Amino acid sequence: QPARAVDLVEEESGAPGEEQRRWEEARLGAASLKFGARDAASQEPKYQLVLEEEETIEFVRATQLQGDEEPSAPPTSTQAQQKESIQAVRRSLPVFPFREELLAAIANHQVLIIEGETGSGKTTQIPQYLFEEGYTNKGMKIACTQPRRVAAMSVAARVAREMGVKLGNEVGYSIRFEDCTSERTVLRYMTDGMLLREFLSEPDLASYSVVMVDEAHERTLHTDILFGLIKDVARFRPELKVLVASATMDTARFSTFFDDAPVFRIPGRRFPVDIFYTKAPEADYLEACVVSVLQIHVTQPPGDILVFLTGQEEIEAACEMLQDRCRRLGSKIRELLVLPIYANLPSDMQARIFQPTPPGARKVVVATNIAETSLTIEGIIYVLDPGFCKQKSYNPRTGMESLTVTPCSKPVPLSFQASANQRAGRAGRVAAGKCFRLYTAWAYQHELEETTVPEIQRTSLGNVVLLLKSLGIHDLMHFDFLDPPPYETLLLALEQLYALGALNHLGELTTSGRKMAELPVDPMLSKMILASEKYSCSEEILTVAAMLSVNNSIFYRPKDKVVHADNARVNFFLPGGDHLVLLNVYTQWAESGYSSQWCYENFVQFRSMRRARDVREQLEGLLERVEVGLSSCQGDYIRVRKAITAGYFYHTARLTRSGYRTVKQQQTVFIHPNSSLFEQQPRWLLYHELVLTTKEFMRQVLEIESSWLLEVAPHYYKAKELEDPHAKKMPKKIGKTREELG
Ligand code: CDP
Ligand code: MG
Repeated sequence: QPARAVDLVEEESGAPGEEQRRWEEARLGAASLKFGARDAASQEPKYQLVLEEEETIEFVRATQLQGDEEPSAPPTSTQAQQKESIQAVRRSLPVFPFREELLAAIANHQVLIIEGETGSGKTTQIPQYLFEEGYTNKGMKIACTQPRRVAAMSVAARVAREMGVKLGNEVGYSIRFEDCTSERTVLRYMTDGMLLREFLSEPDLASYSVVMVDEAHERTLHTDILFGLIKDVARFRPELKVLVASATMDTARFSTFFDDAPVFRIPGRRFPVDIFYTKAPEADYLEACVVSVLQIHVTQPPGDILVFLTGQEEIEAACEMLQDRCRRLGSKIRELLVLPIYANLPSDMQARIFQPTPPGARKVVVATNIAETSLTIEGIIYVLDPGFCKQKSYNPRTGMESLTVTPCSKPVPLSFQASANQRAGRAGRVAAGKCFRLYTAWAYQHELEETTVPEIQRTSLGNVVLLLKSLGIHDLMHFDFLDPPPYETLLLALEQLYALGALNHLGELTTSGRKMAELPVDPMLSKMILASEKYSCSEEILTVAAMLSVNNSIFYRPKDKVVHADNARVNFFLPGGDHLVLLNVYTQWAESGYSSQWCYENFVQFRSMRRARDVREQLEGLLERVEVGLSSCQGDYIRVRKAITAGYFYHTARLTRSGYRTVKQQQTVFIHPNSSLFEQQPRWLLYHELVLTTKEFMRQVLEIESSWLLEVAPHYYKAKELEDPHAKKMPKKIGKTREELG
C-alpha cells in the first residue's frame, strides 16, 4: 500500500470501484512519469522538475453539474464535424429548431432578450437567420457586439466561412485599430466599444436594421452604456430591432430594463459534468495547473482539455512549462498539442484552437475567461479551473485605477461561482465531462463571490463621460443606467476631464475635448497626443502611444535564456525612463526595416511590435482630424517628456523619506522592478498605470521635473504643493555622510 493513498469521496451513485481504479492509475501514471523525469534529468539536470511524487495533485469528486442529455458517450464531435457538411453542423445547433419561432418573435417585438447556453448558436446563427430573412435588404446592416476583440474576429471568420463569403465582404468585423469591413459588409461583428463609437458618426444608428448586444451578461462598461443609448434610440426608431443575447444569467434584469421585453429561451443541451475539487489548497496554482494537465493527459480517456488562466503572461508561461515538460517526456506520453488563446493573440494563431485534434493526440487550450462564454471550442471534455480571474478595480476617492493580478502564491481575487459554473459547463458540450477545480469545495462555498460586480462600478469613467458629452448627453446623473456608477466616480471623471481641458467650468465640451473624443484612446493618452503639437514631437509621441497600448508584451523572456533576455532589455534603457525605452525599441526596430530577425535577436516580441506599428499607423491617420502636424523632436527628449507630462500630470508621484507617494492623494506606491528607473529612484515621476500585485506598483514610469507640472497644468498644481520639504535630507546626502564617517 502506498504511503499516501488517494482520497476519493463518492457522493453520487456510479461505480466507485471504477473511479478508484482510475485514480490509482493516475498514481501509476505519475510514477512512470517520475522515471521519465529522472531519465531526462540524467542528461540535463536543470530540467529535473517533472511530476515528482509529492507533486501530484489530489482531487476529490464532489458534485455533478446536471446535464440535459444522457451521459452515453457519442462520437467526439471533432470527428463528426469533419464528416458532416458545414450546413449539417448549422442544423445540429440547439438554436436551429427554434429558427422560425425566433424570427416570429423578433418580427413581433422591438426588443427581445435571448437566453441560451453557451454554444447554442446565438452569436453565429441568429445574425445569419436575420440576413436570410431579409433584414439586410436596401443596404441595411446588422450589428452584433462582443465584449472581446478575439471573439469578434473569430466569430466573424466562422460566419463568413458558413456563408461561403470572404471575410470583410458581406461579413466583417470591426475592433479598435482594426477594421475588416467594406461597403458590402452587412453583418458586422464588432466590439461593444466600437458600436459606442458608431454613435459619434451616426447618433440614431440609421443604417442599422438590427442591433444585437451579445454576451450581455458580461456587463462590460461599454455594453452597459450601449443599453442606455440603444433604449433611447429604439424609442425614436420603432423599426429598429434590438436583441439582447446572454448566457443563462441576469435575463430578468435585462427584460425589466427594456420595459419588460419578452425573454426567448433556447433550451440548453449539455451532458453531465463531474466536478472535482482539490483536497487541499494549492500554493502555486500555475505549477499545479501544469501538473494537473499532465495528470489528466496520462490518466484520462481521449478528449481535449481547457484550462482557464487570467492573462497573456500567465498563459504564455504555462504553455512554455507544458511544452517544456512534454518535450522532455518525449515518446513516453502521447502527443499533447498546447494552444494558447488570449485577447492579443494574432488571428492565425487563434484559428489553430478551432482545428480538429489529430487522431491519437490530445489538445490542451490554455485560455483567459474568453472561453467561458464568448468562444466555444469543440471536443472539450476536461476543464481545469484554478479559480482566479483578473479584476480591474477603481477607488473613486483617490481616483486610482488598478488591475489586480493574482500572484501565484496569493489567492486574491478568486473568480465567481457564476464563472466557475460557466467554466465547468464547457466540459459537457460533446459528451459527459469532468471539471477539475484547483481549490477546495470549502473555498467554492465560502471564498467565491456569487456574481461579479458590473464593470461600470469598478472602473474610471473618463472615457465614456467624454463620449457621452460628445453625443450631447449633458445630464449624466440622470442617464438611464442599468446599474448606476458610484456618484463619486462620475464626479471625479468630470473633474479629471476639466483638468485635462476637455470640459469647461460649465461641464461643456471644449474644442480640445471634441478632438480628444475623436481619438479612440483614453483621455490622458489623447491629451498627450494633442500636446505633442505644442512640443513639436508628434512622431515620437505617436510611437510612445502605440507602444503603451501593447506595453506589457514587448519583451520576451524565455525561461532558459533569462540572463540574455534581461541584458537585451537593459541595452534599450535610456535616461529619462520607460516611455523613452519603448520609443528606443520601436525606433531601432524601424531602422532594422521592421525585421522579425531583429526582434528575435533582441528578445523583443515581433507580434507585439507589428501590432504597435498598426496602432501607430491608425493614430497617424487621425492626426489631421485633430489638427496635429507631423513633427520630430530631433533627439530633444525633454520635449517628448513634457508632452507626456501634459497628458499624465494626474499620475504623478514623488519620492519622500518613506518611499514614493502620489502627489495629490498621498498614496504609497512603488516602482515596478521591471522598470528602467527601478534602481535610480528619481525624485519626481509620472506613471502610466498602477498594478496591484504584491504591492501597488507603478508600471511604465518616466522621470519628470516638478516645474513641468506647473508648465503643463497650472490650473491643477500650485507651486507650494510641489515644494519638497525634505529636499535637504534626501537619502543620497545621508549616504555621503555615512561615507565620510566611515
Ligand atoms: O453564441 P453561442 O455561445 O450561443 O454559440 P456560437 O458562438 O454561435 O457557437 C455555435 C457553434 O459554432 C459552436 O458549436 C461552436 O463550436 C461553433 N463555432 C466555431 O466552430 N468557431 C467559431 N469561431 C465560433 C463558433
Ligand atoms: Mg456567443
